[in-house]
Amino acid sequence: MDNERFSTLEIRRLKESEPIPYDLLLLADPSRELLNNYLSDADVFIALYKGRVVASYVMCSISPETSEIKAIAVDEKHQGKGAGKLLLHHAFQQAKEKGYKTIAIGTANTSFKQLQLYQQQGFEITGIKRNFFIDNYPEEIFENGIQAKHLIMLEKDL
Ligand code: COA
Repeated sequence: MDNERFSTLEIRRLKESEPIPYDLLLLADPSRELLNNYLSDADVFIALYKGRVVASYVMCSISPETSEIKAIAVDEKHQGKGAGKLLLHHAFQQAKEKGYKTIAIGTANTSFKQLQLYQQQGFEITGIKRNFFIDNYPEEIFENGIQAKHLIMLEKDL
């Protein structure tokens, strides 16, 4: 199966007794400090494949109407096989069940694959937090040969 796409994945909430999958979440957000800030009031979900954690996402309430996916990551060995799409659909379902009307996600101006994935899954760009990565991260971040400077915010109606 290792080269095939995931048709399903076991996705569930992280138990209190389980460690936060920082190795994965740091792929999505390289700042442990920012991660810890929102992890203090967030729901963490993990996806398991053959008993191992291969992906994770973090969701926070940002208003009574809107839930935000703060970080989403798939183990590098398993990227591009549909896990990201399955995680997004799981997040849509979770947010809907909790009564949210909208789900939000942010990504860098340089994250083309992510912008493709999110827009294919129904997110629309709603705004730009200019210089977000310059102001909030100690190191410069480069991706696709471009400096990540701005956070592109997207939302989807549920
Ligand atoms: N190039 C361009 N688009 C790509 C791509 C690539 N190499 N890989 C995936 N995509 C796009 C395609 O639109 C794809 O849809 P398709 O398979 O129908 O063509 C879509 O993304 C879904 O891909 P999927 O396999 O579900 O994505 P994934 O399992 O790799 O998960 C991420 C997506 C972003 C979560 C994952 O790549 C990841 O963890 N990246 C590092 C961390 C990160 O950037 N997190 C997001 C921060 S905002």
